[in-house]
Amino acid sequence: MMTSSITSAVSGALLLMALSTAVVRADESDIVLKPGDGLDVVEGNCSACHSLDFIQMNSPIQDEKGWTETVTKMVHVMGAPITDEDQKQIIKYLSANYSK
Ligand code: HEC
Repeated sequence: MMTSSITSAVSGALLLMALSTAVVRADESDIVLKPGDGLDVVEGNCSACHSLDFIQMNSPIQDEKGWTETVTKMVHVMGAPITDEDQKQIIKYLSANYSK
């Protein structure tokens, strides 16, 4: 009983991940961000309102502090529904891959 409900929850989550990745890839096929830890979180959360090229365009003027401010602004000013844990991963990915 326990085991089977856990198994179906896990496979449901995997299916959902596979589907959302496919949707993001299809919409943003021309924007390819650098591979790295957290890329999937960025793609899943940051392409809802605008294209991911906003990230590429802003990278020459950004650093960890700047990305923290940008992500905070997306959440609190623009209303992006991103969890604290995802925000941390996004800031880490952007600081590592898209900083001046
Ligand atoms: C709820 C919608 C929404 C989501 C989700 C969103 N943004 Fe934005 N973003 C906006 C809007 C609207 C603007 C344009 C604001 C402006 O012109 O200042 C913007 C602008 C930007 C800019 C341009 C610079 C700036 O500060 O205006 C960057 C960079 C950016 N977003 C990055 C991100 C990142 C990274 C994420 C994921 C953490 C994200 N956005 C998620 C709505 C969103």
